[in-house]
Amino acid sequence: MPISNIQMVSFRNHQQLDMDFSPGINVIWGENGSGKTAVLEAIHLLSIGKSFRTSKMTEIIKHEKDFFRVKGAFSSENKEDEILFSQGKDRRQKIKINGKDVGRKTLIGQNPVIILSPEEQNITKGTPGNRRNYFDKLYSITSEEYLNNLSKFFSALKQRNALLRENKNKIVFEAWDETLADLGAKVWKAKKELNEEFMTYLSTASSSYGDGSISIKLKIGNIDIDKKQMKEMLKETHDRDVINKQTSVGPHRDRISFLFNEKKLRNFGSQGEHKIALVLVKLAEFMFIKEKTGRAPIFLLDDLFAKLDLKRSDAVFELLKKNTQTIITNTDLFNLKNHGIDLETPDNKSFHLAR
Ligand SMILES: Nc1ncnc2c1ncn2[C@@H]1O[C@H](COP(=O)(O)OP(=O)(O)O)[C@@H](O)[C@H]1O
Ligand SMILES: [Mg+2]
Repeated sequence: MPISNIQMVSFRNHQQLDMDFSPGINVIWGENGSGKTAVLEAIHLLSIGKSFRTSKMTEIIKHEKDFFRVKGAFSSENKEDEILFSQGKDRRQKIKINGKDVGRKTLIGQNPVIILSPEEQNITKGTPGNRRNYFDKLYSITSEEYLNNLSKFFSALKQRNALLRENKNKIVFEAWDETLADLGAKVWKAKKELNEEFMTYLSTASSSYGDGSISIKLKIGNIDIDKKQMKEMLKETHDRDVINKQTSVGPHRDRISFLFNEKKLRNFGSQGEHKIALVLVKLAEFMFIKEKTGRAPIFLLDDLFAKLDLKRSDAVFELLKKNTQTIITNTDLFNLKNHGIDLETPDNKSFHLAR
């Protein structure tokens, strides 16, 4: 659902900030360090309970303060949800939906957002772990079954790794390997289906962008492994796992690659190709989430104009014109008209942040 209001307290550089958003295009502008990205970070946090900038939540708390709090109102025609997230220095976290305490998992998928920011470039440029996390997050938002199997898999994995550290007798592992193989195979099966589906959106995004000559695909090793095979592999790698004190087989080790015109993007992609690929992935992500959840994600575009040339950002704006709430950050208001953003129309809004 679109976000209609946000209130931030002791969040990064903001002592107190209160903003009312339009359901159309919103532009937050101001010089570097004025806290524009922090606003997107707060919206992202209300959407999935995590930051896109850091995994250390306490980093977000304003210096010299003991906690931060973000409250957001998400509203559609017939519904309004108030979501609250607070984080203490003592690492205590509180999440509430309409005044009721909930766990982080409850948030996921309710108010999806897409973030296109310079940091997100590590989806194409970064480590296999970056890509794994990206797809785990995306598939968790769009499939409850995936989310459940994945979180069960991770807790079984944690326990198996604990046993490895204690160097328990091999017999103990029999039951754990059975459980892990069962969950691992379930995750792989679902991931394979979701991947194939996601790729159809990738190709839609590619063909609607530029001259349509770009092909972008996903490639994952190991994904066809079933439960029996995975159990076999766990047995085979047992001794090595004991030495390394971690489990070497499973979806938590998947290596996902992007193929850009049939070549591995990470190895061969130019700067420009990485940028194009990220935009295509984000456009695909938008369509994928919209189709699977029935909810149009809020589009968050951080420093868009620093990143994209005019032609590329136009592909993004074509999509955004279709009834999508968009929140854009930029250092100034120049050039917006060239991108089709008319701040004179009542649907669009701008906010200035000062340092
Ligand atoms: N925990 C924090 N407490 C206080 N200030 C912070 C904290 N974390 C980051 N900052 C500062 O907040 C400012 C805003 O950062 P950012 O949101 O990236 O701004 P912008 O996107 O407008 O450039 C930066 O100057 C940064 O140094
Ligand atoms: Mg910024």
